[in-house]
Amino acid sequence: MILCRTIAELKNELIQIKQSNDQATIGLVPTMGFLHEGHASLMRQSAEENTASVLSIFVNPLQFGPNEDFERYPRDEARDLAIAKENGIDIVFMPDVKEMYPSKPRTSVIVSQLTERLCGASRPGHFDGVGLVVSKLFHLVQPDRAYFGMKDAQQLAVIQQMTDDLNIPVEIIPCPIVREPDGLALSSRNVYLSAEQRQQAVVLSQSLSLAKEWVKERGMTSEDLIARVKAKISEAGQAEIDYVEWLTYPTLELPAGNEPIANHKGKYILALAVKFGSTRLIDNALFVPNTEVN
Ligand code: PAF
Repeated sequence: MILCRTIAELKNELIQIKQSNDQATIGLVPTMGFLHEGHASLMRQSAEENTASVLSIFVNPLQFGPNEDFERYPRDEARDLAIAKENGIDIVFMPDVKEMYPSKPRTSVIVSQLTERLCGASRPGHFDGVGLVVSKLFHLVQPDRAYFGMKDAQQLAVIQQMTDDLNIPVEIIPCPIVREPDGLALSSRNVYLSAEQRQQAVVLSQSLSLAKEWVKERGMTSEDLIARVKAKISEAGQAEIDYVEWLTYPTLELPAGNEPIANHKGKYILALAVKFGSTRLIDNALFVPNTEVN
């Protein structure tokens, strides 16, 4: 496994791969590091499906708001490199901020509509930062496939839209959410939780599991479902709800009217964001009304 800290090193390695095999396919797993089993599952899938896999580790300042956790975002380079090596990565691209942004970028990548609700509303500018860094990574690595976890379902929808709109020749591969045995979705931010908050955080996945039963109830509307999910989450004393939304997926629009969910056509997402102290967790489940898909 090769570690590249500069764009020149990365390009050199990629050229060598293509020179030794002009049919070689490249998989990219973009991350902000502090890797967990969710990231490892993306790396393994990339290693299985491509000739070579690139893992990028870059805590992108542009996607953090002024009062967010950029400075304290967890980092552990040695551990990340060991996990990358164990999970089939060939090249780790780990640039610093100056390498990625030698000067203040004057180009914005703004995906409209899909970024208006959910995390786009709670974290203004977040997806502009994601769009810019992911498009830079796509241009630098020129991967055939790029792997993203479904926990960040809105991010995935935004990146797929950006890729389609800009005709970037990469296949976006959505990968399933990986959970702790008790159901908590894996996230690098879970380390911020106190022991009590960690126990209470299981309420996110519990409420999604309950929702999968509740949607089957006759006459259940999205308003009723959201109210029930909110009530369930509020049973966790430290939980502060940011949002609970039922939207079309991947278009992220409100359903028309307050029709029973049984009448909703197509795919929907039940998306949650909940704060425990200063730690904000997200989770979601996808539904095709009458047929559970996630
Ligand atoms: O999901 C993440 O870790 C980040 O948003 C990403 C896609 C690596 C861009 O910085």
